[in-house]
Amino acid sequence: MQTTMESSNYMPTLLDERTEELIRQFRQHFDGVPTLVSAGPGRVNLIGEHTDYNDGFVLPVALKRDVRFVLRPRTDRLAQLYSIEFDEEGNFDLDAISFNRDKLWVNYIQGMVQSLEQEGIRLVGIDAVFSGNVPRGSGLSSSAALEIGTAHAFLAASGQEGTLSGARIAQLAQRAENRFVGVNCGIMDQFISELGREDHALLIDCRSLAYTLVPVPAEAALVIGNTRASRSLASSAYNERRRECEEGVALLQQVLTDIRALRDVTSDQLETNRHLLPENVYRRCRHVVSENERVLATVEALRRGDLAEVGRLMNASHASLRDDYLVSSPALDAMVDAMGSVEGCYGARLTGAGFGGCAVALVKPGHEQAIADAVYEQYPKVTNIWPEVYTTKAADGAQSMALPNP
Ligand code: GLA
Repeated sequence: MQTTMESSNYMPTLLDERTEELIRQFRQHFDGVPTLVSAGPGRVNLIGEHTDYNDGFVLPVALKRDVRFVLRPRTDRLAQLYSIEFDEEGNFDLDAISFNRDKLWVNYIQGMVQSLEQEGIRLVGIDAVFSGNVPRGSGLSSSAALEIGTAHAFLAASGQEGTLSGARIAQLAQRAENRFVGVNCGIMDQFISELGREDHALLIDCRSLAYTLVPVPAEAALVIGNTRASRSLASSAYNERRRECEEGVALLQQVLTDIRALRDVTSDQLETNRHLLPENVYRRCRHVVSENERVLATVEALRRGDLAEVGRLMNASHASLRDDYLVSSPALDAMVDAMGSVEGCYGARLTGAGFGGCAVALVKPGHEQAIADAVYEQYPKVTNIWPEVYTTKAADGAQSMALPNP
């Protein structure tokens, strides 16, 4: 079984076979041709899990997989959209946005449009065809990719690209997901989809939204293992973890009066005040506090080219997510074990919210296939599920461009 190799010519032009296919579909669907193309990529997080909503640090990369739109601006305020994956239309009026109970995907688009307009950006309607190759529901942020691809589709159509900073677009996308779609996510996914950079990870300070590009060394390749296991527990457990973290902050504030979030707590302070916390809350806090420290240590190790140390930190992150934060699953543990069993794997961990979805491994280039082979061999024996394995490289964030005249 082969790993799925990513093509290396995806960016910067967006003029590839996928866009050509979208143009063909647009012509079939609408009268005429599209004039613009936009894309929002998915992401994989190297380290810094469940830290974003604690005002902490994350270190994701954007993927060479995206949700892509070809479109044509309209002179009125109608959005006429056709989703290739769902093989259905989702039309709405920008002046009459309301939650669509039948076609949930339309809500990501409506929510993004509403969020941009609430920011004072007046948008035009569009005719658009779109499709994505970020696996859906797999923890690689297909939702953020759809939101960010949508933002650039409408901004480009309205001549408003450049009006907002990338960080602001990411915040508006997060707001769309929190308030319109109703998912209580943090800022990481939208931020990296917007601002990712080829061959770089992004260190994001989720409090200030300051970010730093961190080169991914050429001696490090990324392999993603998709457990293809159900993530049914993810959203309820996600909200519960958020509550536990808030409880931890409230209890610690009795003595650490200056703290606003777990971001402000050191490991020493946490240990000194452990007696203030119920055991479950202490464990959740210990994960977040130690994970923030691991993110910063990972950045230092990447800068020194110490990939063995990066791998060690990734393994420690997984153990902490499994044992203290309780967001791993037998499938994720089996995936991480299979990846880690191969020589040439520096380290591996679950990525994203957990409970299923994907794991990411940092590997020596040339060992990708050996890792995939180990996963295809070992993982189904434990889980009875056939996995998918992708190799990837850090890619650019959101893009849009005018299409050449046919
Ligand atoms: C999901 C959320 C992110 C982040 C991760 C966990 O992907 O959308 O904001 O909280 O889980 O790190």
